[in-house]
Amino acid sequence: MIGEKSSDFKDQKDLFKEALASDFSMSEIQQIWRQILTHFLSISPIEQIAMGDHQFSLQESKIIERIVERLQNKEPFQHILGEVEFYGLELKSDGRALIPRPETEELVNWIIEDNKALPLNILDICSGSGCIALSLSQAFQDAQVVGYELSTEAIELSEENALALKLPVEFKYVDVLDNEQFTSALKKQTKLGLLDIVVSNPPYIPYCEKDSMDDVVLKHEPEMALFVPNEEPLLFYRKIAEGILPFLSTCGVLYFECHYLQLENTRNMLLELGFNNVEKRKDLQGKWRMLKAQK
Ligand SMILES: C[S@@+](CC[C@H](N)C(=O)[O-])C[C@H]1O[C@@H](n2cnc3c(N)ncnc32)[C@H](O)[C@@H]1O
Repeated sequence: MIGEKSSDFKDQKDLFKEALASDFSMSEIQQIWRQILTHFLSISPIEQIAMGDHQFSLQESKIIERIVERLQNKEPFQHILGEVEFYGLELKSDGRALIPRPETEELVNWIIEDNKALPLNILDICSGSGCIALSLSQAFQDAQVVGYELSTEAIELSEENALALKLPVEFKYVDVLDNEQFTSALKKQTKLGLLDIVVSNPPYIPYCEKDSMDDVVLKHEPEMALFVPNEEPLLFYRKIAEGILPFLSTCGVLYFECHYLQLENTRNMLLELGFNNVEKRKDLQGKWRMLKAQK
């Protein structure tokens, strides 16, 4: 009971660390602490530097205590905060879509680094919160960027994000596992020009990994954003790669975020389908995570 024991800054911070030590690393705790002070107690990062003799009011202590309870109940901090930073953009974050991950920022960074000559038509398949599509729209201001997504809740969230950021991305309801629907959407979309960049971070975790996953993910993130059947780990990659091939421009490029254990299989599948120059990249954790393939 943080609030009742003390309102002294140092004591309160020590109790906070202790309460979360079994679930978070020390650097995560520090980061969460700083964000609580900034977002919930309106204490700016500069004011935080010299807070040694600050006394928390009872109300402030209660706010911190309530957040600790929610974190201990395995609620993601991004949901408590209601937002997440992704590639410099502030995105709304809640249970309607997957929380954007740092490795996905690395994929976005690869695309931006690669495409100095501005791409015109960009498609993000399985767009979720809109994090990839929106950051590409921000980077390539003249491009037409579209997202395909099956969850109406995720589409709603991505549209709210686009509106808040004033980015002209269109999110469409498309089931990429439904060949007819997928092809018809692609035909309509490419009437005025083929696709220069297609990117996807589709569901890729086999159900057999579910038991080893953290409750923070299992209880609060949409199941349809995460899992694929054990016997078909490449389900989405194959459907997407086969589906988009006729709609990619001659210099068109496909980027995938992958399960590190399936990267080689995904790469081979792309080569079999006729893609060229298939390149792989590791994420910052050192895991093979991303693929790029040319038509
Ligand atoms: C791993 S999440 C990625 C979300 C977002 N692109 C990101 O990187 O954070 C996969 C997304 O695919 C969507 N999805 C699942 N099945 C789909 C389908 N058949 N067609 C289109 N999208 C689908 C999920 O709703 C989820 O938003």
